[in-house]
Amino acid sequence: MDPAQQIAELTQRVAQLEEELMRAQRLSSVGALASSITHEFNNILTTVINYAKMGVRHQDEATRNKSFDRILSAAQRAAKITTGMLAYARNTTNRIEPNDLKRLLEDVLVLVQKDLQMHRIGVDLVAPESVWAMANSSQIQQLLMNLIVNARQAMKENGRLRLIVRDNKAEGWAEIVVSDSGCGIPQEKLPLIFESFYTTKAPDERGQGGTGLGLALCRRIVEAHKGRIRVESEVGKGTTFTLKLPRSESPAGFIDTSAA
Ligand SMILES: Nc1ncnc2c1ncn2[C@@H]1O[C@H](COP(=O)(O)OP(=O)(O)OP(=O)(O)O)[C@@H](O)[C@H]1O
Ligand SMILES: [Mg+2]
Repeated sequence: MDPAQQIAELTQRVAQLEEELMRAQRLSSVGALASSITHEFNNILTTVINYAKMGVRHQDEATRNKSFDRILSAAQRAAKITTGMLAYARNTTNRIEPNDLKRLLEDVLVLVQKDLQMHRIGVDLVAPESVWAMANSSQIQQLLMNLIVNARQAMKENGRLRLIVRDNKAEGWAEIVVSDSGCGIPQEKLPLIFESFYTTKAPDERGQGGTGLGLALCRRIVEAHKGRIRVESEVGKGTTFTLKLPRSESPAGFIDTSAA
């Protein structure tokens, strides 16, 4: 085989492996949420069982209607989580196209909400309007998931997670800021955090620690989008990641009703 052909084949193989790594990391990041999601489902089932019992015991119409209402809304909450999980785990498209960053962030929040709640972390979301970027929806969700899970892991109880979505028209960026009140990162370590396999998370009693791949994949995703990612941190105060993606105009016919 001539060298040029060999190089072409190897390049293709590397691209394939990168794709597989990305998929594996997407699933492993959901693993970090397994306990909170199980917990949430348990709560939902308890609600369903209790209201079903109440409906069976009480024959009057008012109580039955109330029971059905509660069961329905609990089941709808469960459906929202499973739909979100399936959509997240499935890599739907490889296209970079106009996407609303506010919506992508909200979809990720559905999955991480319980985890944040269980660790008593408050969330301030500042996203007054839709902000459109040229983005691959599943990759950007994966990136946001990695940043938010890292932020959560850096915080003790009563931490605060600040999320901002903004349209920087002047500079042509659609931006998301993920800011935590966690342990912070020493200045001399900042250049290392985007390297593959750099982690400070030692394995716990179940042997689960960090792989150090989260931010390395974030960086790749940002590069593929021709975007930027910046980090500022102060030990003991917290860390702020700013993601900038090329902005796009909202698609024709899109009416933003969320700002109203
Ligand atoms: N928000 C943050 N606050 C403090 N340190 C952080 C934060 N985000 C990342 N780091 C540091 O950067 C390191 C690398 O992060 P990265 O997400 O790449 O890997 P990880 O979280 O250790 O492992 P994995 O993401 O595979 O679970 C972390 O181990 C941690 O030391
Ligand atoms: Mg991580």
